[in-house]
Amino acid sequence: MAGQAQIIDGKAVAEQVRAQVARDVANLKNSHGITPGLAVVIVGEDPASQVYVRNKGKQTTAAGMKSVEHKLPATVSELKLLELVGELNRADDIHGILVQLPLPKHIDAAKVIEAIDPLKDVDGFHPVNVGRLSIGARALVPCTPAGCMILAKTVKPSLEGLDAIVIGRSNIVGKPLAQLLLAAGCTVTVAHSKTRDLPAQVRRADLVMAAVGRPEFVRGDWIKPGAIVIDVGINRVTGADGRDKLVGDVAYDEAAKVAGAITPVPGGVGPMTIACLLRNTLEAARGVAGDVG
Ligand code: GUN
Repeated sequence: MAGQAQIIDGKAVAEQVRAQVARDVANLKNSHGITPGLAVVIVGEDPASQVYVRNKGKQTTAAGMKSVEHKLPATVSELKLLELVGELNRADDIHGILVQLPLPKHIDAAKVIEAIDPLKDVDGFHPVNVGRLSIGARALVPCTPAGCMILAKTVKPSLEGLDAIVIGRSNIVGKPLAQLLLAAGCTVTVAHSKTRDLPAQVRRADLVMAAVGRPEFVRGDWIKPGAIVIDVGINRVTGADGRDKLVGDVAYDEAAKVAGAITPVPGGVGPMTIACLLRNTLEAARGVAGDVG
């Protein structure tokens, strides 16, 4: 029977997270006179990044925070960008700094990330936050993985003891997600392009987190009946009708027949990223990093 799985509504959950952030921002203003400030730096004219940055700005303001945008030309030097990061590090009214990735080839992204004050690193990409997350210390946690955890916990508040598989090992999603799952008490497999017999690995998992960036890569017959499926992928493909559409890394219709719960694309993980970014900015403004797990 088609569509048996519970559909996890990322849009609704993200709205709840944003509403909570907005309440906490109002309290922080009242109690300490602090308005959290987020600075977003965008280099070049990548259209997808422009849309994303515009959405970030709108949602930041809607949550009662200060939003600052720095647009730099694609030709900007690495030194100029590092100088801007330095200025933002020193700015008292800026609590979160996000440098939109990808950066042009002539700029060393790792160097830029390491220049950000770890206490303002709302992306959670700085090696200090990566390290703190891996030892279970308080850290600013990358936004998309944090959003995935919130969504999984809407289905099952305790993930302890579950067999989880993360498909993908990127620094932005796969690796931090594996750390969060470990911290939540899961037994974690991290699969990647060299993994042997991936379908068999996925079939053992109670919790599947797909972050490979390949359209409908994970098939329905790989899914263990009743599993929770979180799909991080956002892939633009041309449909049978010749029109562009967005699909995830999971073949949704197939998987929804087998899974216990599944996130749709769009409307699943996507909306959670900015919601978690706002949460991180609030945490940074409070002067403490967010909880792990
Ligand atoms: N580009 C796409 N997603 C992200 C993100 O979460 N953070 C940054 N800095 N750049 C991105």
